[in-house]
This record gives sequence, structure tokens and C-alpha cells, in this order.
Amino acid sequence: MTTTPPSAEPAQRTPLVVRTRPELQDAQMRWALTGPVEGAEAGPGQRAVVMTMGALHEGHLELVRQARTEAGPNGQVVVTIFVNPLQFGAGEDLDTYPRDLDGDVAKLAGVGADVVFAPTPDVVYPDGDPVVRVSAGRIGEVLEGASRPGHLDGVLTVVLKLMHLVRPDVALFGEKDAQQLLAVRRMVRDLEVPVEVVGVPTVREADGLAMSSRNAYLAPEERERALALSRALRAGAAAADRGAPGVINDAREVLDGADGVVVDYLALVDPVTVDAVTDDFSGPALLLVAARVGSTRLIDNQAVEVSPEVQR
Ligand code: PAF
Repeated sequence: MTTTPPSAEPAQRTPLVVRTRPELQDAQMRWALTGPVEGAEAGPGQRAVVMTMGALHEGHLELVRQARTEAGPNGQVVVTIFVNPLQFGAGEDLDTYPRDLDGDVAKLAGVGADVVFAPTPDVVYPDGDPVVRVSAGRIGEVLEGASRPGHLDGVLTVVLKLMHLVRPDVALFGEKDAQQLLAVRRMVRDLEVPVEVVGVPTVREADGLAMSSRNAYLAPEERERALALSRALRAGAAAADRGAPGVINDAREVLDGADGVVVDYLALVDPVTVDAVTDDFSGPALLLVAARVGSTRLIDNQAVEVSPEVQR
């Protein structure tokens, strides 16, 4: 694994890979002293972080490109790659979650990452499972939280730890994990974490499937079935002028007609509180779906501007 300091233009260079806290601190310190390019003046520039669990796809790479823009040419883009045990429940795919650090680093060459921080669990949790954790509160009890108890607490705990370790000015998260993004925004606000949180729109395959590391689990016919999720969201959004009941109804119809798709939840929620909207709601909402296709659990969402239901 490369440990030479970066020396090319930000967008072209191969990132420096660090595995331990001292290596990360060293990379940060060198950055502060010499700037992004060896010999270049250290200028103002932000540090931007993209947190991932690896198995990188185009959606992650888009986050990194945006991070490069946020950081500026003199800033530093750090990508973390860590499969966080705390956010997996019993019987979930912690052990089988795809891990390919060399492949991930190769994908990151040329998209603007400066440093990859890829710690092992004992680096992140040196004292074993943390006794004190972050609670997502109410946000962690509904939708994803209801299906995966403790999941969002585990996410927030590692996100806060990584924020302390990386010390970013800005952190970018994908809108595909909408509830996670909401929970992170809320944590940053409620706990006065001095980091700006930026959401980046979901990247989709040409046929509408939201990119996800878990898509790799899908057999070809399952992948075809999985298209029902994005189809349902589009159908729901297209019914926005029939009010909240119209949105839910049309999305539900698509899912009901889809073979081999077991719906976990379909919900239209307030994008700040994650509370389900009432039938007479109008305004910006988020339509969220989670479903199992074969043994793979997928999530997707879409922003919907809901008009009040017109009585016909
Ligand atoms: O979205 C993810 O990949 C993870 O939940 C995150 C934010 C990296 C925390 O482990």
C-alpha cells in the first residue's frame, strides 16, 4: 500500500493510505505544513471528509468529487473506509460485507481524494465496544430504526468518532441514506459539532436503480425486480398533486404488483422530523421505501413536493 506523499494535481493523484491514528495525524500535520502539493504554499482550504464502508461505487466517487469541490484545490479530502461493527445487528451481513481496500484505493485515484483512512476495529474502538454511545433518539426508533434497532445509534457513534479523529470542516453524506443524513444533521446541531454537513443527491444506474454496495448481492433476476423500488418512488412523486394519500397509493400499487419484492416500509415523512405526514399535508416531503429482494435489503427515497389533496 502506498505511503508516499501526494505530489500531483488534487484531482489526479493517488491517495495516501493510512491505517493508524498516528499515521493519520502525521498526514494531517504534513498537510498543514506543506499544503496539498509538495513544495506548494499552504493556503486556506478546508478539510472535507467522505465516510464510507468501502465497496466503493459511482455514488461514493461522486461524494468524493463534491468533497474536492468543497475543499478547494488547497484543501484536503479524506475518505474513511471502515466497516463499523456497531451498526450491524445480529444476523446482518457484517461478516460478508464486501471488503476490497486495494480495489477501493484504485477507484479513488483520479477523483480528488488525498488521504484514505482505513482503520481496523481495534484502531477505532481500542477499548472494545464503547460503553458511552450516541443515541439517535426518536429518529433512531422509526423506519430504519424500527427494522434495525440500534443501527442509527451505531452509525452516529462512529460518525462522531471519525469526526473527532479526522477533524473535518465539512462532511459529505449521500441522500440515498436519507434517514442517516437526517440523524447526522440532527446530531451535529444538537451536540454543537463544528462540522458543516452536506448532502449529495443519489446516483442512479441508467435504469433508475439507486447505487448501493449491497446491489452486488443481487442475482440478475433480483436486480430486475429491485427496479420496483425506484419505479414506485417515481409513481408516488408523479401523484404529488393528489396529496399525500395519492402519493402513497400510487407508490404502493407499484410495489404490490411487483413479484419477489417484500416491502418493509413505504412512508411519506416530514424531511426534518421523519414523522409521517398527515393526509392533508402539503409542502416538501420525503417518500421512503425499504424492501427485501431475495435476501438483500434495499432502501431508496425521493423528495416530493406535495400539493394539498383536491376533492374530486
Ligand atoms: O453510509 C455508510 O456507509 C455508513 O453508515 C457510514 C456513514 C460510513 C458510517 O459507518
